[in-house]
Amino acid sequence: MDKKLKKLEEKVKVELNNIKDDKVLSELKVKYLGRKGELTKILKEIKNLSLEEKPKLGKLANKIKKELINIFDNAEKILSSQKFNNLSFDASMPGQDKEVGSIHPISVIQYEIEDSFKQLGFKVYDGPQLESEYYNFTSLNIPKDHPARDTQDTFWLEDNNILRTHTSNLQVRMLEKEGVPFRGIFPGRVFRNESTDSSHDHTFYQLEGLMVAKDINIGNLIAVMKVLLSSVFKTNVDVRLRPGFFPFVEPGFEMDIKCLVCEGEGCSVCKKSGWVELMPCGMVHPKVLVAADIDYKKYSGFAFGLGLTRMVMMKYKIEDIRLLEAGDLRFLKQF
Ligand code: FA5
Repeated sequence: MDKKLKKLEEKVKVELNNIKDDKVLSELKVKYLGRKGELTKILKEIKNLSLEEKPKLGKLANKIKKELINIFDNAEKILSSQKFNNLSFDASMPGQDKEVGSIHPISVIQYEIEDSFKQLGFKVYDGPQLESEYYNFTSLNIPKDHPARDTQDTFWLEDNNILRTHTSNLQVRMLEKEGVPFRGIFPGRVFRNESTDSSHDHTFYQLEGLMVAKDINIGNLIAVMKVLLSSVFKTNVDVRLRPGFFPFVEPGFEMDIKCLVCEGEGCSVCKKSGWVELMPCGMVHPKVLVAADIDYKKYSGFAFGLGLTRMVMMKYKIEDIRLLEAGDLRFLKQF
């Protein structure tokens, strides 16, 4: 038995010397140390030995078993480190030339506008897209059953909240939160339940501007709109201002831009009119100030609601609004 154990130990060491493959190594481990392995067989024989021999050989057998386990562990470590060293890996090589994404054109224009407004002392605010009926309509002087709600049909949730139809939902929210004087812009996603065409989508972006302080007048509104247009177009564009009705401004205007897709000739984007509705605006209605608990006799303000997605269409001469949200890489790669 003594000899058998020592011979086995020698045999294992010799066989391990020639191993270069971890699969062969694990087969060898099973052959010697497995449940039906050679060492296990010898160990089972110990119980048949005499009482004198049992402790001596039991001790030796355990010693050899531990040694063999160590030898196999070491062999496994050596093989795996050789495997790593053989990998053709050069950590100093530059990364693979994988394509990276780019900033979406709507975000590009949004960031440019944000930068210009920050220089005018405006802060950029974000707010909920899932909104209460109160902030989206009622606080803006659009009570239940007012026809202005019809022009902004939207998606209703079972708890009576809605997907906001415009970024104007933040007017009263932000005035309540920040108080006056106030200067802020609110870019973000809005939703409408309407059929889509080349200039209307059910999900699009607006950028709201709101300024409330003492002695604010239409001159301030026009000056700020000029900054907005020149920050995006960087050149003169033809605009027209006409009266417009929104229950939360008085007086209210519609600012249109001469269609840059067709240069005013008439196309599907401008519905053959040569002009695109871009930015309604006006002086904040006293009822909105009252809703935000602001004294309308002391404070006045202006607000505008830029159709950001439409502006991006004008800037890049995009003929169909649906391309912007379709996620088609062939389209997006052009920016
Ligand atoms: C409003 O949403 C008002 N909240 C704007 C406002 C703000 C008025 C502050 C006064 C003071 P309107 O529904 O017209 O207004 O939308 C504003 C702009 O969003 C439009 O001029 C247009 O450029 C854009 N727009 C409206 N509907 C869509 C649509 N379905 N798809 C893409 N752009 C749209």
